[in-house]
Amino acid sequence: MSNQPLMIVTSLAELRSARLLLDGTVGFVPTMGYLHEGHVSLARRAREECDHVVVSIFVNPTQFGPNEDLSKYPRDLDHDLHLLEAAGVNLVWTPTPDVMYPPGFATWVEVEGLTEPLEGASRPGHFRGVTTVVSKLFNAVQPTKAYFGQKDAQQAAVIRKMTRDLDFPVEVVVCPTVREADGLAMSSRNSYLSPEERQAATVLFRSLSAARSAYERGERSAEPLRGIMSGVIASEPLAKMQYVSVADYDTLEELETVTGKTLLSLAVLLGKTRLIDNFVLG
Ligand SMILES: Nc1ncnc2c1ncn2[C@@H]1O[C@H](COP(=O)(O)OP(=O)(O)OP(=O)(O)O)[C@@H](O)[C@H]1O
Ligand SMILES: [Mg+2]
Repeated sequence: MSNQPLMIVTSLAELRSARLLLDGTVGFVPTMGYLHEGHVSLARRAREECDHVVVSIFVNPTQFGPNEDLSKYPRDLDHDLHLLEAAGVNLVWTPTPDVMYPPGFATWVEVEGLTEPLEGASRPGHFRGVTTVVSKLFNAVQPTKAYFGQKDAQQAAVIRKMTRDLDFPVEVVVCPTVREADGLAMSSRNSYLSPEERQAATVLFRSLSAARSAYERGERSAEPLRGIMSGVIASEPLAKMQYVSVADYDTLEELETVTGKTLLSLAVLLGKTRLIDNFVLG
């Protein structure tokens, strides 16, 4: 089935008709477009594991805060479609905001607890937008498996929880973070960085790597690991730390001592651009 031409639809009715024609398993990759090798790796994994691959491209307004510039979000649909066609994607859904949120829209999906720390604390309302739109995308696409990136570790955890709690018949698959040669995690937002900020942006990877090295040398106290991460960020003049975290991988609660599976994560501002990254230990 992989050599069928790429089909592009916008309305919900078109998406539903196209979906009805897909027999067998469907892998789904939700994105906000301006695609890079990270997104493509998710589509390729879906291609390997499923009979058909559906990708959505939707810059979801409800997951942007009032001070986050939605109107400046980068877009390049032609380039996105070329990448997706090369990756063997069958169907691309590009809903407009009024397809997803028609006038009078008033229903929200919210995951409690897991959404409170880290990204949730820095970006109030962000996860409510994410879980609401992913619920709507799941309902429309009805995928067998849905693919998310480890770069957004908390998002992956929140989607997993939502999928379990609301009994979506979808298997959530989390794929490794794809990085540039110098370690910077690929992200559509990297395109906002000036050349100087782009160089400084390796500070996220350097910070995580330093903490992981200390862990590998036997450091198990969380506070020194946080200190190592924030120290590396402080050494980079163009970078401003938003948070560093050493948390339980499943609950995202901050740890005193690292014992089991642990998430090292951080958010850093480079100028106006906010970047995140994480490593998993144990
Ligand atoms: N470097 C990466 N490696 C693997 N998956 C990724 C990477 N970057 C993004 N993804 C995943 O792609 C999916 C769509 O993400 P999205 O379209 O927001 O891309 P993004 O690069 O994270 O954009 P932004 O920089 O605006 O956050 C998410 O599941 C996300 O985790
Ligand atoms: Mg993103």
